This record gives sequence, structure tokens and C-alpha cells, in this order.
Amino acid sequence: MGNEKCVLAYSGGLDTSALVPYIKDKYGYDVIACLIDVGHMSGLDEIRERALTAGAVGSYVIDAKEEFVTDFAFEALKANALYENKYPLHSALSRPLIAKKMVELAHEHGAKYVAHGCTAKGNDQVRIDVSVRCLDPTIKVLGPAREWGMTRPQLIDYLAERNINLPFLTKKNPYSIDENLWGRAIECGELEDPWAAPPDDAYTFTANAEDAPDKATELVVGFESGLPVSLDGERLGPVGLVEKIDQIAGANGYGRIDMVENRLVGIKSRETYEAAGPLSLIMAHSALEDLTLTRELQHFKTSIDQRLSELIYDGLWFSPLAEALRAFIDESQKHVTGEVRLSYYKGSCKVVGRRSPNSLYVDALATYGSGDTFSHQSAVGFIELWGLPVEVWARRRQGQL
Ligand code: ARG
Repeated sequence: MGNEKCVLAYSGGLDTSALVPYIKDKYGYDVIACLIDVGHMSGLDEIRERALTAGAVGSYVIDAKEEFVTDFAFEALKANALYENKYPLHSALSRPLIAKKMVELAHEHGAKYVAHGCTAKGNDQVRIDVSVRCLDPTIKVLGPAREWGMTRPQLIDYLAERNINLPFLTKKNPYSIDENLWGRAIECGELEDPWAAPPDDAYTFTANAEDAPDKATELVVGFESGLPVSLDGERLGPVGLVEKIDQIAGANGYGRIDMVENRLVGIKSRETYEAAGPLSLIMAHSALEDLTLTRELQHFKTSIDQRLSELIYDGLWFSPLAEALRAFIDESQKHVTGEVRLSYYKGSCKVVGRRSPNSLYVDALATYGSGDTFSHQSAVGFIELWGLPVEVWARRRQGQL
């Protein structure tokens, strides 16, 4: 009988590269590395090779871009999902998908273990762990980077001692980065001081607002049943659409987020993000909901949207509550079809127009001009009854009853 197998979520970086020999040394498991491509990854072949150089018995690159956008990011978009009203959740959305792909690979290879390189202070360990346990509770999740206590130079020595020579080991990005099609997180380094403004070099997806074009850029986003399907009338697939709007919005200096965030593990952290496309899409989608949802549905949905955003952040994408909330949201999106006009200018994005075949905005009811069909006399009776409870209360209080 061969060794037990462990599927490792591999990024090609120093930590996950050191995990390959570490898992073998410490637990005796054969490592099957897998890189799940959720966008903005380059040098994939080289990374696949790197895992083998580090001693993995198998190495896979899984293209999950389309699935990520369609089944995760766009589901979140329908909920206008923002954690603490600011962060579009790109990292939080990718972890359940990464977990799903790891579990699939574990099943294919008969592996009883999966491992990740997350640190103990972040949310991502929670998301991967909880997602794996929901998908297959018999699989055990290892997070050795939480316990090995090795610094960066020690990790480099650890690999060198085992004659594993990898080209990236000398250069170090001053930040911790997590990026995919739905955004980019930049943490650590100088950013740990919440008073210090983020240095220019922290950002790579978006232009500086000062360097953005001096003329406004307009963009029309088309939606069908809550999903974006076109830009300026051109139909695009989900991945292409997200890439294109991200590029246009980012070039206009839009999409930078600087916040202090409440992590699930109890700490506040300073987070900076770039999410030009996602923020634009959420703004446009929500403007179309303004036009197409009834007041009651729209107001109620806001609380559902917020609850789902929290569940996504908290690692509960795969959970009965999240599933039920998504079903509600899906139902609410049937008539969210139409177009929204966005205007970008030097770091800002505004909605400047919207239209829909399902619009609930009726000229004849809204107009203050001629052709008004609104029943003015009904307003009087309506207000009479609407205000009745407070009037009764006031009369009682004032001794009039
Ligand atoms: N704070 C964000 C979150 O919890 C971003 C996490 C980024 N992940 C990372 N490994 N750098 O969703």
C-alpha cells in the first residue's frame, strides 16, 4: 500500500512550496498540488512544474475562471454583496470554489486529506476548512502554516536543506496579495498603519485618479434577470465582461477601497482593495433594481443581501441559510432586465441613466407636468388613515379622548 495522499492548494509562492516537503516530512503524506485559477494568474505551467520540483507526486492547474464568475461572483452581484458596505468579497467568494475543486481532486485520487497555506490570523483558513467539511466531512483539513512557526528566511533554508532550489526565493513583495477576477486585496507592510495613506505601488489594477483621462467615459451595462450580459450593446461572456469593465473602470481611477475591516477571527485589520469592475457592476445592478423592484421587495431584499454578504464573509457559502437566501434572491431577479448608464471621471463612477422593459417608473404617475394620471384626491384619504394611529395616540396623550 502506498502513502496516504493530501491535496494541497498550491499558489507557487514560498509558503505553499515549503508545504510540499513539510507535509511529506511531518505527516508522511504524498502531496498532490493544485492551483485553482480564478483569474489574474500568469506563468501557470511554471507554477505546475515548481510543485513537482518541490516534491509533489502530482500537480494540476484547474481553470475555474468561468465557474468562479458565473456561480460565485455573479450570485453575489445579484445580492449587491458588499461586506461592511465596502468590500465586494473577492477572496471570500473564491475560497468555497477552491475548496470544492480540492474536494473533487481528493475524490479522484482517493486522498483523505487536503491542506492549505493560510495563516492563523486570516479569514481564508475558516472559509476553506468549513467549506471542505460541508462538502465532505470525511476529509481532514490541514493548515500546517499555522503551526510551523517558520519565518521567511527559515522557510528558504528549509527548502535549501532539501536541495529544492526555486527561482522566486529571493524577491519578496512588500505586501500580501490575493487577487482574482472579482478584485485584489493588498495587505501588510506599510498598510498595517491605518493612518498611513496607501503608497502608489500598492495598486496595480487601477490608475491613480490624477492620471486618469480628463474626459468622462460613459459605459452602458446591459442586464438580463439580474445578470450582466453586455457592455455598450456588445454581448460578452461572464469572464470577458468582468475583465473589460474592470479595465475601463480601473483606467478611470475608480475602484480603490481603503477600510478597517472586522475580521471573523476577532481582529480589526486595515484592508485595501481594488475592485473597479465589481463595484461598477454592483452600482449598476442596484440602480436597475431601483427601477424594476417594488418598494416592499427592494427594502426587504436589502436585509437579505446584507445577511448573505456576511455569510459569504464568514465562510458559510455552503450552508442551508446561504442556499435559502440565494433562492430568494434568484426569485427577486426575474424582472431585473435593462440597461444602466455609468459615467466615470477621475476616480468616480456615477449612474447617469437607466431603462428597462420592466420599469415600474410610470411617467404618467411620476410627472409634475401635463398628462398626470395620479389620483390627487386619493392622497388626502390615504394620509387620513395613514396618520390615524399617531393621531389617536397624540389625542390620548393630550387628554382629548
Ligand atoms: N480581508 C479580506 C478577506 O478576509 C481579504 C483576504 C485576503 N487574503 C489573503 N490571503 N491575502 O476576505
